Amino acid sequence: MKVLIVGSGGREHAIAASVSKSSRVDKIYCAPGNAGIGMIAQCVPIGAMEFDKIVTFAKENEIDLTIVAMDDPLVGGLVDELEKEGLRAFGPRKNAAILEGSKAFSKDLMKKYHIPTAAYETFDSPDAALAYLETARFPTVLKADGLALGKGVLICENLEEARQGVKTIMLDKQFGSAGSRLVIEEFMTGREVSVLSYVDGKTIKTMTSAQDHKRAGDGDTGLNTGGMGTFSPSPFYTKEVDAFCRKHIYQATVDAMAAEGREFKGIIFFGLMLTPEGPRVLEYNARFGDPEAQVVLPRMKNDIIEVMEACIDGKLDTIDFSFEDNAAVCVVLASEGYPVSYEKGFVIEGLEKFEGQKSYYCFHAGTKKTDQGIVTNGGRVLGITAKGKDLKEARANAYEAAGWINFKNKYMRRDIGRAIDEA
Ligand code: AMP
Ligand code: GLY
Repeated sequence: MKVLIVGSGGREHAIAASVSKSSRVDKIYCAPGNAGIGMIAQCVPIGAMEFDKIVTFAKENEIDLTIVAMDDPLVGGLVDELEKEGLRAFGPRKNAAILEGSKAFSKDLMKKYHIPTAAYETFDSPDAALAYLETARFPTVLKADGLALGKGVLICENLEEARQGVKTIMLDKQFGSAGSRLVIEEFMTGREVSVLSYVDGKTIKTMTSAQDHKRAGDGDTGLNTGGMGTFSPSPFYTKEVDAFCRKHIYQATVDAMAAEGREFKGIIFFGLMLTPEGPRVLEYNARFGDPEAQVVLPRMKNDIIEVMEACIDGKLDTIDFSFEDNAAVCVVLASEGYPVSYEKGFVIEGLEKFEGQKSYYCFHAGTKKTDQGIVTNGGRVLGITAKGKDLKEARANAYEAAGWINFKNKYMRRDIGRAIDEA
C-alpha cells in the first residue's frame, strides 16, 4: 500500500521509520518532510496546512492511508477533508482534535466527567481575568486556550507577573488568536510523565511511558521549547500509577469524548503530573509527542500500519501491544539560541555513522538537503535516540552517539535523563 505522512519534524521521521518496517507498505510519501525523511520516503513540497493540495495529491497518487501527525492540520480538520473525498486517514477529526485545540474545552470535559486535573477558571475578557487574579493563590498558571507551539503556558509567581501574563496573552496577543481566551489554573507539583495511546473511538490501548525535558537549559532552566530530549520508560510510572490512570483517566477520556458526540480515533497523548494527591492530567495532545515518538516507537514491536488501521476500523480490541524489554533515550541537537533566534544553513557532519546501526537512530527535525550536503534548517535539528538494556545504558549510548555529529552552533542539554538517577 501507499502511505502519506503529513509533517516535517523528528516525530514524522520516527513515524516514517516505523512505517518503512511494515511488510504491507510499498511506498511512503511525506509532505513536506525533511532531509532525513527523504532517505526513506519521497518528500513532496506541500505544506501541512495546504489541505487542498494534500487532498489532490492523495487522490492523484492513490494513497491508501494518510497519517496526519501534526497538531495544526488535525485541529484545522485535515482528516475531515480527506474523508470527504473517500480517502482513509489516521488521526482525529476536527470535532475530536479540539481535545488538544482548546484548553478550555479539555478542562470543561475533565470537570464534567470527573477526570482528575488542576482546578481552573476560563476567561474571555482581560478585565475578568485580572479581577480573578486579585484573590488567586500563587504561583498560578496562565494558559492560552488555543495552539501555541507548546509555549502558551506561563507560570506566574506573584500578582505582578500574572498581570503581565494576562497582557502578554490576551492584549499583546503574543500567541495570536490562541490567546483570545485564557485558562487560569491551580499550580501543581510533581513529576511529569507522558503516556501516548492509540484510540479507535471506543477502545484505548496505551503505549510505554516516556518523559520529556521541555526547558531549553540544564537543570530545567530557561524557556520552554518543543522538547529537548526524552527517555522511555519512566521509572516513576509505577504499576500503581498505571492502575489509577486506567481507572480514572484513560477510558474515562475516550468515553467522555464519545458521550459528547466527538468520537476520538487516533493518538491521545496524556501529559500527566504525579502530584502528592495522585496523578492529574496536565494536558491532552491529539497526536504523538515530539520527541516522545522518537523513544516510544523504536521500542514498539507491532506493525504500526496494522495498529493504525485497527483504530480507523474500530477494531483495536483485537490487537495486543508488545514493547521491547529495554529502554531508549533521545537527546535533541539544537541550534544555539533555540527557541528564540538562531542561524541556519550549517553543514552537518557525521550522519553516515548511523547507517546500518540497529540500536542508534538519527531522526531529522530541522534539516535540508543542499549541494553542500545536509544542512541545519531549524531550531531543533536532530534527535539522537539510542537503546540500551536499561535507562542508564541507553543514556550513555545516546550521549556517545550525540558526539558523532558536528555542526556549527550545535547545542544540547547535558542532563537528559538525569531523573533516572533519582528513581
Ligand atoms: P502544557 O502545555 O499544558 O503541558 O504546559 C506546559 C508545561 O507547563 C507542563 O509540561 C508543565 O511543566 C507546566 N504546567 C502546565 N500546567 C501546570 C500546572 N497546573 N501546574 C504546574 N505546572 C504546569
Ligand atoms: N514534547 C511535547 C509535545 O510534543 O507536545
